Amino acid sequence: MFNNKKILVVYYSRHNNTHRVAELIARTLGAKTERLIDKKDRSHLLSWFKGAFDEELKTPTTIQPLKNNPKNFDLIIIGTPIWDGICPAIKTFIKQNKTKIKKLALFITFGASPENAQYIMEKLSNKKPLATLEVQDRQIDNKEYIKKVKEFCKIINNKF
Ligand SMILES: Cc1cc2nc3c(=O)[nH]c(=O)nc-3n(C[C@H](O)[C@H](O)[C@H](O)COP(=O)(O)O)c2cc1C
Repeated sequence: MFNNKKILVVYYSRHNNTHRVAELIARTLGAKTERLIDKKDRSHLLSWFKGAFDEELKTPTTIQPLKNNPKNFDLIIIGTPIWDGICPAIKTFIKQNKTKIKKLALFITFGASPENAQYIMEKLSNKKPLATLEVQDRQIDNKEYIKKVKEFCKIINNKF
């Protein structure tokens, strides 16, 4: 709860980078979290180099039922790792829930380039985000992400 408003952080994470960023955002804003579970086993996509350009990343997936109903929240903050674009679970979430999203903010984790993921998420959701955040893996390792998350939350605080 933030200023009496309800916030949900929705994210997918395979190797916990996005999870770490999501948890810090949620703690800072007093938000709930919803970690998406992709029903498709992607454990064979061991690394970006082996998996990123696999055709299966482009095909739609199904996700496990959500614990929270997005329509009960004033703001949804969506986080995706870059998997040669937005990861499949996040694409599915946005497609299934875009009419329930009142206000939106976005964050992205990536190894080399955030690509045009923000633009694609804006297009898919048909919403202009209040704030956006891009975190490179090395900024998680060296803890620079903490400052970036604080700035992101401050922007949300000012606009929300
Ligand atoms: C299957 C796969 C594909 C990836 N593709 C890209 C990519 O195209 N560009 C990039 O910059 N990073 C890519 N990465 C790196 C991830 O975006 C980055 O490590 C991210 O922080 C992972 O988030 P997670 O730990 O929450 O799963 C890829 C990683 C995996 C596992």
